[in-house]
Amino acid sequence: MAGQRRNILKTFFGVSLIATLAPFLSWGGFLYRPERSAALRQRIANIKDLEPNSRITFSYPATGNPQIDSDPFRQYGLIRLPTGEVKAYSKVCVHLWCLWDYFPSSREMQCPCHGTVYNPDTGVAVRGPASLQPYPTNALPELELEIDGEGNIYATGLKGRVGYGREYRELLQPLQQLQQSSPNQEVTVYIPLRDALPTRTALEIVRSYDVKPVRIYGFREMRVERDGRTVTEREWMVAETEAEAGDMDAVYALELATRPAEAIKIAENRQVITVMLRR
Ligand code: FES
Repeated sequence: MAGQRRNILKTFFGVSLIATLAPFLSWGGFLYRPERSAALRQRIANIKDLEPNSRITFSYPATGNPQIDSDPFRQYGLIRLPTGEVKAYSKVCVHLWCLWDYFPSSREMQCPCHGTVYNPDTGVAVRGPASLQPYPTNALPELELEIDGEGNIYATGLKGRVGYGREYRELLQPLQQLQQSSPNQEVTVYIPLRDALPTRTALEIVRSYDVKPVRIYGFREMRVERDGRTVTEREWMVAETEAEAGDMDAVYALELATRPAEAIKIAENRQVITVMLRR
């Protein structure tokens, strides 16, 4: 009920205020201002509790009061990616504030209301209505995470504004700094694609830049019998060479070695979401 009310409020408030203030405000400035909440360190789980390609939901910041903690605006999904990394995003869809869920079989976060699909590597909408919203209102707010020596995962602060979006091009900043200080240093970058691409198309991207493949992430689809029905299942795969990737039907992310300037150039490719420096 509270979620429904918020949906109505968001739509009404947005439309009426935009109509009133539009002549006085820049569109982007009105729709979204980046926000970073005061750091609040909270233990979420231990990495051992999470299988790769799975998620748990938790409240942040948790108060111990179930009524407050169940507020949808305090709900986050912690996802352990098939690569082993963990990511935590606000559960509130940046379209009209329904709550998304994670589907390991397709490796996607999907919103049940109007079909927005988010890429779990970045929390950026890749299909559906939220993907048509302008940057940075097309990305879920993300929690900053730390993992201690015993595998405990802590949330330490929020990037973005729940329900509205997040700056994510800031992921390019470490590369921009390296471009200034060490332009010839070889770097390894992780590149989530906007959507899974046929392997041949993804490899054409690799060949069109001055890069060496480190890892290619993709899948093969198989038709299998389950409970008397034929269903499509994905086998998730990692290849280290273009030849190995030939066994995949589609590719959803690339890890490449290159120079900072070339990596920044790749970020402009419309098929990729962003480029992240591997530590
Ligand atoms: S509320 Fe999520 S797609 Fe509309």
